[in-house]
Amino acid sequence: MNPLLSRFFGGNEKQEVQEIPIIPKTIHSLEEHQRISVVGWIANKLGQLIGVEHCDDGQLMVDVLSKDFTELDQENQEEYLFFLANSLVTWIEKDEDVYFNIKMMQLDSNYHKHLLEVYELVKSYDNIYFNKKNPLIQDISEDDKEWEIYRDVLHAASSRKFLMVKDEELEQYRNDELLLDEPVETKEDIPLVRNKAKTKLQEIEVPSSKIASYVLLISEAITNMIKHANGGRLKITKNEKSIHFLIEDRGSGFPLKILPYTVLMSGYSTKKSLGQGFTLMLKLSSRVLLKTSSTGSTIVLILEEEE
Ligand SMILES: Nc1ncnc2c1ncn2[C@@H]1O[C@H](COP(=O)(O)OP(=O)(O)O)[C@@H](O)[C@H]1O
Ligand SMILES: [Mg+2]
Repeated sequence: MNPLLSRFFGGNEKQEVQEIPIIPKTIHSLEEHQRISVVGWIANKLGQLIGVEHCDDGQLMVDVLSKDFTELDQENQEEYLFFLANSLVTWIEKDEDVYFNIKMMQLDSNYHKHLLEVYELVKSYDNIYFNKKNPLIQDISEDDKEWEIYRDVLHAASSRKFLMVKDEELEQYRNDELLLDEPVETKEDIPLVRNKAKTKLQEIEVPSSKIASYVLLISEAITNMIKHANGGRLKITKNEKSIHFLIEDRGSGFPLKILPYTVLMSGYSTKKSLGQGFTLMLKLSSRVLLKTSSTGSTIVLILEEEE
């Protein structure tokens, strides 16, 4: 309370002595100060998620100001949190594959899960300070040369099974005969939609030997939609030659930089998860098309009738 007002109203309440942390002399520049604040925030958030004492009061955001990141004792829980936060910031600055680096650290599962969670959170702020040149997720447009290189390399590396496409290239699959169109918004929708799809496939007399693998494909794709994007729809269309599963989500898209790992590497996941979805999709479908942007992705799984 303002001292004047406090005198006016009696001012009996306990005077709170707010200790202002002294910024160490070693923080030379504003840039450096910002970086340290970001590390402190991340360490504190991580501590909060893990349930470390005093993190709810922001203790680590204060303590960070007097830390020397080159001399952290990883046996000490607080310093370990600073170590993880500082590593995360360093990777982001160097534009490294954060998911891969986290995986390689072989963290305790609680730390692993929450560090990924904090990274997702950090990524969602566009304007946060990082001492780096490239934006975190490059939204490379489809007209970009780089986009074309990714498309061609992934196409060749997948033996022409996986192809990045532009939205208009999906029209033909959308315009085929529509068999099913279901929203997938929550976890609970997954088994419901999977069963509806199965019934539909049986109705159109898909050979029973194929039903199980088709249902598995749908299951993987719509699970991803809940796990990695913000839900969306499953559509099934067909023509004389093929059946198509269109999985349309409203997520933030596939970052181009890690797309090769996402798509081609069995066991690669940006969550604590098995990373088998794409492996299965590529193995069990004739072709996989992907249209992705920062406002959503569409995957089309094409199942061709065997000649
Ligand atoms: N709909 C999606 N939108 C954005 N990224 C996705 C989507 N689906 C999958 N991904 C990315 O692809 C990675 C690999 O997916 P997947 O092979 O199914 O493995 P998992 O789901 O076990 O992580 C995911 O970890 C995620 O980073
Ligand atoms: Mg998956």
